[in-house]
Amino acid sequence: MCGIIGFTGNVDAKDILIDGLTSLEYRGYDSAGISYFTKNGIQTVKTVGKVSILKDKVNSEHSADATKCGIGHTRWATHGGVNKTNAHPHRFGRVTLVHNGIIENYTELKEEFAKEGKTPVSDTDSEIAAMVIDSCYKTNPISAIKKAVKKLVGAYALCIMFDEHPGKIYAIRKGSPLVATSTKNGSVIASDMVAIIKYSKDYFVLPEHHIATITAKSIKINDLDSNEVEPDMLHVNWDMTAAQKDGYEYFMLKEIHEQPQALTNTILPRIKDGLVDFSADNVPDSLFDGINAITIAACGTAMHAGLIGKSLLEKYVRIPVTVEIASEFRYKDPIVDEKTLVIIVSQSGETADTREAINIAHKKGAKTLAIVNVKGSSIARESDYVLYTHAGPEIAVASTKAYIVQMAVMYLLTFKLAVLKNTLPTNNVRKLVSTLLTIPDYVDNILSSDKVIEKISKRLVNAESLFFIGRGLDYSLSMEGSLKLKEISYIHSEAYAAGELKHGTISLITDNVPVIAIATQKDVFSKTLANIEEVRTRGAFVIMVTTSDAAVNVSLCDHILSLPEIDDAFTPFGAAVMLQFLAYYTSYAKGLNVDQPRNLAKSVTVE
Ligand code: M6R
Repeated sequence: MCGIIGFTGNVDAKDILIDGLTSLEYRGYDSAGISYFTKNGIQTVKTVGKVSILKDKVNSEHSADATKCGIGHTRWATHGGVNKTNAHPHRFGRVTLVHNGIIENYTELKEEFAKEGKTPVSDTDSEIAAMVIDSCYKTNPISAIKKAVKKLVGAYALCIMFDEHPGKIYAIRKGSPLVATSTKNGSVIASDMVAIIKYSKDYFVLPEHHIATITAKSIKINDLDSNEVEPDMLHVNWDMTAAQKDGYEYFMLKEIHEQPQALTNTILPRIKDGLVDFSADNVPDSLFDGINAITIAACGTAMHAGLIGKSLLEKYVRIPVTVEIASEFRYKDPIVDEKTLVIIVSQSGETADTREAINIAHKKGAKTLAIVNVKGSSIARESDYVLYTHAGPEIAVASTKAYIVQMAVMYLLTFKLAVLKNTLPTNNVRKLVSTLLTIPDYVDNILSSDKVIEKISKRLVNAESLFFIGRGLDYSLSMEGSLKLKEISYIHSEAYAAGELKHGTISLITDNVPVIAIATQKDVFSKTLANIEEVRTRGAFVIMVTTSDAAVNVSLCDHILSLPEIDDAFTPFGAAVMLQFLAYYTSYAKGLNVDQPRNLAKSVTVE
């Protein structure tokens, strides 16, 4: 949530800042702004809306400003409406900063400042952070930051410039991410790697509660006791093209097409002698010793991947699995103990609610295993063990490739546990693993169904409301399909267990209401067919996702989307792709910005 960039070096900073903000725009797109040192002091340019508007303004009105050091921000509004005054950077006194996070005690701080006759110009909590730092500042930025953070409650990633320290950026973070690197042209700090990859594949995560002093030549890290700290360097194995559209109109479409590769990268290195092996991930088999229950905590799409995991683990490992929405999990007293394995699922590794689930699990004595896409992210670092998904950067707000590889890890875990717990004969597991290895090709095959789905989705564009139904694995898929569609097409949609419709919701099914029925599981196929009959009788427009070998009476549906034949356990991979296309093309046909749906941001670092 909110994208931050800072650069100081020996080349023009403005272009680098704007470029960085363009890459970070998916983190928030309510407003954007940059501040930079000029020979006449700090100059700030802000606009409401997209970074492209900011870029035009900088180019037309500020092209002559020379600068080699500055900070920038693209905002997802939390406190204070969307307007230019509330746009970052914020300035108070001699301090200019950009902020990602929430200062929870900003109202109290504001009241204290009011008593001193100090009034902020914006409605933001971020300006209050600037006021606090300014009030603690005499001449030494580091001691000002140290004093200030004692007064700030909440989460923050801050990049700060002080009038009297041109060429320098100071940064500190708690809760919200910041990564940085130094190159021959200067030093760069940002909310995530997509803004840095152009300059280096090597980077470090600024440790929490540490202050970075960023100059053109180096980045110095100190803890709050002033000890200098050497950060752990990390390396990403993707490059700039991964963070660009590469000929696709939208990142979401590109990311859907990247799924076969993401699946290969996630599955293949973990298969040894036909079975699952996590030793290269440093996840020991002993982690699963004595575990008698699993809790999966996650949000949104990641939680839906957890639901697939639940079905698989319960079916093949016969272990009870609870899937918790992380924001609910954190505020109840969950039944978790040292015999529970808590699995945390997150693409970004920064989702605030999901992150807190780790703390709760640890307090209750449970071990945590994270399934995370972003290397070195907070969740990856705070969990006991990590299984990385290798999707590469996911830029579209709607998660696609990250979801499919989260699912893949659920399959890997299930097959690992089935052997360790001896719940399936090893030969059967080998067979399942060999099918899993075919999944990248299977998904690749399904990518060619996009034109048919594009046509069908035109029929959904004018719907006011629609329904997804399914049973078992197909029900979990329905939930994901429904979320994806409403998230980017703004059409109200609900997912229902197919058998549950007649307990209330069927009253909403009238003429032409679209129902997307997922029926890929043979054991409940006839039951789902009966449910389709029920909605059809009431006039529903039915799109059915099923397998090519299923015997379907074509008059039962308006459209059938057939998945190539595969063991039922693996159909979620195919159905997921079809539902992603359905959401994508519906949004596209409505002329919406598919990658940046309203009110949303990619990484939800506030609770
Ligand atoms: O980064 P995370 O996986 O923790 O994010 C969780 C959700 O915010 C995310 O999956 C969200 O639901 C997606 N925008 C859905 O497409």
